[in-house]
Amino acid sequence: MIEIRNLTKIFNEGTVNEKIALDDLSLTINDGDFICMIGANGSGKSTLLSCLSGAMISEKGNIIMDGKDITLVSQHGRASEIGHLFQDPMAGTAPHMTIEENLALAAKNGNWLTKVNEKDRRFFKEKLSSLQMDLEKKLDMEVGVLSGGMRQALTLIMNTIKTPKLLLLDEHTAALDPETAQKVLDLTKQTVEEKNITCVMITHNMQTAIDMGNRLLMMNGGKIILDLNKEEKEKMSVDDLRALFKANTSSQLDDDRMLLL
Ligand SMILES: Nc1ncnc2c1ncn2[C@@H]1O[C@H](COP(=O)(O)OP(=O)(O)OP(=O)(O)O)[C@@H](O)[C@H]1O
Ligand SMILES: [Mg+2]
Repeated sequence: MIEIRNLTKIFNEGTVNEKIALDDLSLTINDGDFICMIGANGSGKSTLLSCLSGAMISEKGNIIMDGKDITLVSQHGRASEIGHLFQDPMAGTAPHMTIEENLALAAKNGNWLTKVNEKDRRFFKEKLSSLQMDLEKKLDMEVGVLSGGMRQALTLIMNTIKTPKLLLLDEHTAALDPETAQKVLDLTKQTVEEKNITCVMITHNMQTAIDMGNRLLMMNGGKIILDLNKEEKEKMSVDDLRALFKANTSSQLDDDRMLLL
């Protein structure tokens, strides 16, 4: 279980550019929760995930993971327990290393010195063949030459090869074409459900947020303004969500990307 208590993150504090990105935010993430997170641009979604991964440290508040206060633990110190994927397929893999080397680094917690044996190789091939992208035949290929979709799929495997305590997905399919995005989403659903991984996924696709996971959070102004459970969210339509946003914020969802969906 992860408890986020009164988290506040302020950028450029005390200057004219001061921005409160997280505003006294509290949230409990239960083991096995698959949370879809939506909200307008700039509402603090990525900042919240960065505070959870340790990429950013909050000014105030605490993050407690399985009873341990990890608020000040570095990103490196949390990396073996928390996976973090981004929109950019170039992030998260080493482009000049082969697929096998990337997988080996992920499987062996970044330890270069541990050699890959035949058993490891069989395990990697089995993982890759589930993608149906023929990557299992390309273990010696440099990751830099793969398509964006292949890289995101590989990054997802790398982040879940050792089951993390928490998987953070920050619009990880947003830069992909619709067909590839759907494949990566299917792989996400399958991996998260199979391994029962606790997961927070940011998406701008409100229908995806309704369809996937067991919980839907809506953010605005650095706060969580809506927290729906599975039954509640499955009754929702995209129009209902828009109406709820308006009712809770007295403004429209002014997010161009969101309105297109
Ligand atoms: N490194 C930073 N320096 C200054 N301000 C920042 C920084 N990162 C984020 N912000 C600001 O904090 C607020 C929250 O940003 P954040 O990226 O968390 O929003 P978001 O909900 O992920 O938006 P989007 O949907 O556009 O990805 C925004 O106003 C943003 O401009
Ligand atoms: Mg963001």
